[in-house]
Amino acid sequence: MQGATAVITGGAGFIGSNLAHRLLSMNCHVIVLDNLSRASVSSNLEWLREQHPHGLEVVVADVRDATAVRRCVARASHVFHFAAQVAVTSSLSDPEYDFDVNARGTLNVLEAVRATEKHPHVFYTSTNKVYGGLDDLELIETSSRYEPRNARVRDEGIAEDRPLDFHSPYGCSKGTADQYVLDYARSYDIPAVVFRMSCIYGPRQFGTEDQGWVAHFLIQALRAAPITIYGDGKQVRDLLFVDDLMAAFLAAEGHMDRVRGKAFNIGGGVDNSVSLLELFALLEARFGMRPALHRDLWRLGDQRYYVTNTERFGSLTGWAPRVGVREGVERLLLWLADTRGRLLPRSCDLGAA
Ligand SMILES: NC(=O)c1ccc[n+]([C@@H]2O[C@H](COP(=O)([O-])OP(=O)(O)OC[C@H]3O[C@@H](n4cnc5c(N)ncnc54)[C@H](O)[C@@H]3O)[C@@H](O)[C@H]2O)c1
Repeated sequence: MQGATAVITGGAGFIGSNLAHRLLSMNCHVIVLDNLSRASVSSNLEWLREQHPHGLEVVVADVRDATAVRRCVARASHVFHFAAQVAVTSSLSDPEYDFDVNARGTLNVLEAVRATEKHPHVFYTSTNKVYGGLDDLELIETSSRYEPRNARVRDEGIAEDRPLDFHSPYGCSKGTADQYVLDYARSYDIPAVVFRMSCIYGPRQFGTEDQGWVAHFLIQALRAAPITIYGDGKQVRDLLFVDDLMAAFLAAEGHMDRVRGKAFNIGGGVDNSVSLLELFALLEARFGMRPALHRDLWRLGDQRYYVTNTERFGSLTGWAPRVGVREGVERLLLWLADTRGRLLPRSCDLGAA
């Protein structure tokens, strides 16, 4: 991608700023289009400007503004469309806003791409929520987690052949956008790829109770503040460290001929799966952190088990996650402690066994 011009919508956010950093380090010109609606993301832009005095352009605009989107996309060789209303909870309280940003905003991006003479490569970040609650998955309950009874799902995770089943307005709007991207790839021959991502975590993430739960838990633990668990804490997710996601974008770019027009489940996979209770156990064993836990009812559509099967993407591109949960959590914790001027309760020995 050297010499490329990349538009990153939502480029001030967690994933966007990590990608901007990576692309700027590769001498790309990066146009960040972001309305800065997510709290604290301006500090990601400040950091990017410090790191990269050249090559970064920031356009403060909304993806609902089709004209602003078209102006940026017209100059792009690559478009990474990340800007979104990102929380299920907010989508439930304001489904129209959620639709406008996620569905209509994506259509604005696609129409801007369609209007170009030489179509840029398009990357869209969808979500595992497009597979719904997975209520048909028979689960075994252990003392710390849920596990699928089906050995294949247990060993390999959830693959792309799962039927789509949009849950919650967020699931619907992201799923709609996911399908539009795939259809624009088909109908207008646009080189576009969709990543259906599970839980991504890492530095530059401003996690809250509503989105970015790993970062949120670590922030609360650092502040010695209580954490609310919705459900029993045995729900399982696979975690993907943000550097591995960056490698996945670059792998997709390097194999666009193979991946275009397809959707891939992207996550940490079975080896990086963890339940909430297991994450708390890790925090206690590794750092001596023991935040107070409050309990509340399950949240709507919360999957008791979701672990990604990355086989399809891996076999086409050679990509695989490299950063394990323990190392990734440690790296995120160090960044959080550093940016908040806090000391870790126990010294952190990065990468040690
Ligand atoms: N982080 C995850 O675990 C995860 C998992 C699955 C999918 N995703 C998807 O990945 C993308 C990036 O997520 P993230 O974790 O970096 O979130 P984030 O909130 O950190 O970043 C999103 C950015 O988009 C901006 N934004 C929001 N609405 C906008 C609008 N209307 N116009 C322009 N900019 C707007 C925000 O200010 C923010 O900087 C999103 O599309 C999200 O749905 C993330």
